[in-house]
Amino acid sequence: MSSSLNLDAQDVGTVRFSYGDQEIELPLIEGSEGERAIDISALRSRTGMITIDEGFVNTGSTRSSITFLDGEKGILRYRGYAIEDLAANCDFVEIAYLLINGELPNADQATEFRSGIRDHTMIHEDMRSFYNGFPRDAHPMAILSSVVGALSTFYQDSMQVDDPDQVEISIYRLLAKLPTIAAYSYKKSMGQPFMYPSNDLSYCENFLHMMFATPAEDHVVDPDFAEALNLLLIVHADHEQNCSTSTVRMVGSSNANLFASISAGIGALWGPLHGGANEACVNMLEQIAADGGNVKKYVDMAKDKNSNFRLMGFGHRVYKNFDPRAQIIRACCDKLLAKLKIDDPLFEVAQQLQEVALKDEYFVERKLYPNVDFYSGVIYRAMGIPVQMFTVLFAIGRLPGWIAHWKELHANPRNRINRPRQVYTGQTSRKTVPVEQR
Ligand code: CMC
Repeated sequence: MSSSLNLDAQDVGTVRFSYGDQEIELPLIEGSEGERAIDISALRSRTGMITIDEGFVNTGSTRSSITFLDGEKGILRYRGYAIEDLAANCDFVEIAYLLINGELPNADQATEFRSGIRDHTMIHEDMRSFYNGFPRDAHPMAILSSVVGALSTFYQDSMQVDDPDQVEISIYRLLAKLPTIAAYSYKKSMGQPFMYPSNDLSYCENFLHMMFATPAEDHVVDPDFAEALNLLLIVHADHEQNCSTSTVRMVGSSNANLFASISAGIGALWGPLHGGANEACVNMLEQIAADGGNVKKYVDMAKDKNSNFRLMGFGHRVYKNFDPRAQIIRACCDKLLAKLKIDDPLFEVAQQLQEVALKDEYFVERKLYPNVDFYSGVIYRAMGIPVQMFTVLFAIGRLPGWIAHWKELHANPRNRINRPRQVYTGQTSRKTVPVEQR
């Protein structure tokens, strides 16, 4: 696998500011899309001060050449290609290649990459027995994270982070095995036998086969479902320095191996404020439908500062106009439901919710729009995928992005262990007193 690395931002001058009687000058850098940043890395050594930015709202953690997004304009590009262009013209495996290697594959590269993945789709037979130990009702994200972490126990031959051959085989193993590990977690919850992968199928068809076929009955994969899944995986494939990707980079920065880093990323993705929002969103739509479809009541609850309730599938840290991924998915959702003649009451509730929220001053003022998770759940439901598997599908989609970032981190000569500082606000120095005097 080749790799491209371009992490040079341009030096475009300095920023000067004063503090007391001190005048400080710090470098100003500019990325290839004109984004500017003040390089504060020398601030502490020169002034004794650090910066603080809880939740990293205004902090760039790295230079990166993988994904560009402009939240104001609703732009998302992988390696320079617009998400709309990629979604219309590529399949998920090509996108994985693009993210990991920097360029779209030519025909020979694509064939080699696909066959490299196919060679590794099965999981070790001993690993299958892990599943016997998980409770039947275990959440599949917990299983996914555990089994991916356990890959480090089976592939001890490929854990050197500075050996390109070992990294390459780990990448193939992850891309190939994640759908198998995921489908087995579903089979476990159903009490059904695991289905081996079928390597004559495409990446998405194979996953649907492992999910829905049984030894007693073959499953003919609906091409519309495979197409919709391909699209969903593409739009989830990367999103620059989001919570799970930053986790993968953080863990990777200590030189932890790729399996350990991805397992940690899966844990971060699980949270309902991140990837878990697609599951939380459908649960919320079900709750609204069961409660008589009173959409306004839930919009009011989301606005009420005394309530913890939030409209799941709304809002984004970066997108402040629309989420381009939501727009692509919305069109796919319409097409699929119309074709299948599915009259899903949840979709009706989703539409009403969107209409009410988009006109409401609270949501307009705060620029809260439907995000990618708002429609993905409705599509997954139409495909017969159970709610608990939604975030697992997000993880399968996000895997190439995590890998690309982990690789970029290790190729970056500026890479140092990620270690933020803090402003301490606890007790100042004190002495213990004997227990009877406390
Ligand atoms: N419902 C109601 N109010 C909201 C919502 C929401 N979904 N999202 C944000 N707000 C309000 C929030 O209360 C705050 O109001 P105020 O200024 O009066 O205090 C304001 O909008 C800004 O919110 P924030 O929490 O400071 O924004 P953030 O950038 O820290 O959080 C978010 C972004 C995505 C976590 C948040 O919008 C949210 O919780 N959304 C629901 C969960 C969700 O759909 N997550 C999926 C994100 S897209 C997939 C992914 O990439 O993971």
